[in-house]
Amino acid sequence: MQTNIINGKEIANQLLTTAAEKMAAAGKPVGLAVVIVGENAASQVYVRNKVNACAKTGISSTRYDLPETLSEAELLAQIHALNADDSVHGILVQLPLPKHIDAEKVLETIAVEKDVDGFHTTHMGRLVADLPSLRPCTPAGCMLLLQSTGVNLAGANAVVVGRSHIVGKPMAIMLINAGATVTVCNSKTKDLAAVCRNADVLVAAVGRANFITKDMIKPGAIVIDVGINRLEDGSITGDVDFAGAQGIAGAITPVPGGVGPMTIAMLVHNTLSAADIVLT
Ligand code: GUN
Repeated sequence: MQTNIINGKEIANQLLTTAAEKMAAAGKPVGLAVVIVGENAASQVYVRNKVNACAKTGISSTRYDLPETLSEAELLAQIHALNADDSVHGILVQLPLPKHIDAEKVLETIAVEKDVDGFHTTHMGRLVADLPSLRPCTPAGCMLLLQSTGVNLAGANAVVVGRSHIVGKPMAIMLINAGATVTVCNSKTKDLAAVCRNADVLVAAVGRANFITKDMIKPGAIVIDVGINRLEDGSITGDVDFAGAQGIAGAITPVPGGVGPMTIAMLVHNTLSAADIVLT
C-alpha cells in the first residue's frame, strides 16, 4: 500500500496566507501577548516560531520573557495587566511553567475571550458541549489535517494515545463531536498494540520517540503524529516509527512538517477570532 504523506506545512501556509489577507482586509491592529517563564529550550523554539508566524500575518506580538524565579503572584499580576489592556486581543502562556507555579490557576486567570490556547475551563466545557469556543490549537490543527485526507470520521474507530489537557483530551472530544467511536489510551493501557491496531484513525500524543511501532498500525489507517521528540544527535522525531509505518498506514503526518506548523496556524486563527476577525 502506498502511504500518503500529509503535508502539514503546506496546509498551515495556506491558512496563514488566508489569515494575512483577512487581517489586511479588516484593517485594524491585532495584538498577541506571548508569556514565557524560564529557559526551557523547547519552549523557546516554539515561542520563536509563534512570534514569527504572527509577524508574517500582520499580528503584533509582544514577548514577555520572565525569569524562572518569578513568583506565582507576579505572573498573575502580569496576566491581570494583559487582561485589562485593550491593545491585547490574545494571551498565550507557554507551558510548561516552573513547578512552583500552579499552571491551572494561571490558565484560569487569562480572560476567557483572550485565551487563544483554548485551555480555559470555559472553552473546554464549551468544546465538550460542542458549542462555539476558541479550540485548543494542536487538536484543532489535527482535525484539519484529518479533513484534508477526506476521511469520513462518522463511524470511524479513532484511538488517541495520550490524555493530556493540551492534546489528548480535547482531541478525543473533537473526534467524538465528529461522530467517531473514540478510545483514549495512555502509555499504561493493557495490550495497547491491539487497541491501536483497531484504529482507522490513530493519533499519537505521548511524547516518546518511536513509541508507536508498525505492528500497532492497521493497514490503511490514518496516523497523526503529535510528538516532537529531540534525539541525542539533535534531530527531531515523532511518537511514531515513521519509516516502519510506510507501506502500512494509508496516510501519515511527518515530524517535522506535520502537526507542528498546524498548531501555529491555529494560534493565528484563534488570535484573529479573539479580535473578531472571522476566517471562514
Ligand atoms: N506547550 C506545548 N504545547 C503548547 C501549546 O499549544 N500552548 C502552550 N501555551 N504551551 C504549550
